[in-house]
Amino acid sequence: MLRAEYRLDQTKAPFLEGLIQYSRDQVIPFHTPGHKQGRSLDPELQSALGRLPFLLDLSDEIASQAHGDNSERVLREAEALAADAFGAKATFFLHNGTTAGIQAMLLAARQWAGRTLPGAGCAVEDGMEIIVPRSVHRSVLGGLILAGLVPRFVSDTWDQEWSIPLPPPQEAWQAAAAGSQFLAAYFDTYPNYYGIAGHLDRTADLAAAGDKLLLVDEAHGAHFRFHPALPPAALSLGADACAQSAHKVLGVLTQASILHINNEELAATMPQILGMLQSTSPSFLLYASLDAGRRQMALAGEHLWQRALELSSTAREKINRMPGLRCLGEEILNKPQVGFWDPTKLLIKVDGLGLSGSEAEKRLRAKGIQVELAGLNHVLALIAIGDGPEEVEALVRALEELQKERSSSRRRPPASLPQLPRPGEMLVSLRRAILSPRRELSLAAAQGEVAAEAVLPYPPGIPVLVPGERITVESIDFLQDCGRKGIEIRGWANADRQTIWVVDID
Ligand SMILES: Cc1ncc(COP(=O)(O)O)c(C=O)c1O
Repeated sequence: MLRAEYRLDQTKAPFLEGLIQYSRDQVIPFHTPGHKQGRSLDPELQSALGRLPFLLDLSDEIASQAHGDNSERVLREAEALAADAFGAKATFFLHNGTTAGIQAMLLAARQWAGRTLPGAGCAVEDGMEIIVPRSVHRSVLGGLILAGLVPRFVSDTWDQEWSIPLPPPQEAWQAAAAGSQFLAAYFDTYPNYYGIAGHLDRTADLAAAGDKLLLVDEAHGAHFRFHPALPPAALSLGADACAQSAHKVLGVLTQASILHINNEELAATMPQILGMLQSTSPSFLLYASLDAGRRQMALAGEHLWQRALELSSTAREKINRMPGLRCLGEEILNKPQVGFWDPTKLLIKVDGLGLSGSEAEKRLRAKGIQVELAGLNHVLALIAIGDGPEEVEALVRALEELQKERSSSRRRPPASLPQLPRPGEMLVSLRRAILSPRRELSLAAAQGEVAAEAVLPYPPGIPVLVPGERITVESIDFLQDCGRKGIEIRGWANADRQTIWVVDID
């Protein structure tokens, strides 16, 4: 069903159509890519993929039926259709994932805010701040380094029962804003990996009241716009810009993401900024898949997500009837810091069977099921438009088997995360910490040094050390405790020697 508010003809997919037309024209390609439309391929690759994807993997001019002109114009046409479908003023297709979109938003925000703060526009290390949750994806740290922005972290809360991070309480955003002198923007993750989000609408009000930008990592929310039972899309709640990993939830190829902008000044600078961050040889296959994925959502999104929502709701009910297993439900919305929840995410607690998340993941894999992630006491299964009743039933059956196997022999309960330590003081900027000379040091001997790399236990993926921060005894104790409990730690210089990178001050 077509939404009444679309302005453009959403039945078109000009980028995909242009590629198909080019392959039909049977042009002899004296241009890149070197495989020449699949004429010369390794035999194993050819038998695995066939020639068709290579016929469409072009780098040269394709024409739209509407304009008969170049690829750049066809791309603009496809992006305009996406802006219409997603409710944005401007949309950019990304061929380097949401990572590129996040970094572009941060660079653009730095430039935008520089004009509103007299004298602060040109200097790179001028202390211009941005409020971000501590649990941000590592692409955000990369973006802050590139943009020379200083993070003012708001701490996520830790849900002991489910062993997951929950959004920071709303008061934390207010407090962070009150303490900042040169605030460029607010940045939020909406939703997190588990489909849980804070009150983005309230953060939007806060940003608007202070005439600041609100930027959103909506990597896990590209589908929100297309069904009323899903959380509202970030743009509809007041975000100035958001980046979505369309590849994570829609029917598009991995790495294909989209950046939506609702602020005309930001939109105007985006082509230049994206040009600095992304390859000059975009995959046309990625663009065609975004074009087609947008059309699919505009024409049939509500119907497709209705089916996914029904499947996840049935699976949740069945799992909740199995002794020892629990699946997170809408009761999560009763927590004051939680504003929105995506019911297509099945967060399944397995510690009632005496299993850790990773033990359950391995056992499910042996039964032919692969989940998205394993936490300390849970696994996460994603339901999307590609799932049907058979697939979801197979997941439910595998969980039933798991549950029966466990009833006979119980094990010790899985590890729980120790209390997260307070972050150390930021002694040098993130950017300087990353660009300075560094040395490798044993974690045990690093107290008082300045971290040169983010170090984080995974799960929950919240950094204990961020580059530029003083390494405290509490952080060292915490990381050592995680190590003893078998919790994976990311960011080692050398995991076997348990060394980390510190800034070489001398
Ligand atoms: C919350 C979040 N933000 C950003 C990203 C980066 O997205 P991409 O892989 O599309 O670059 C991810 C990827 O896992 C993510 O989980």
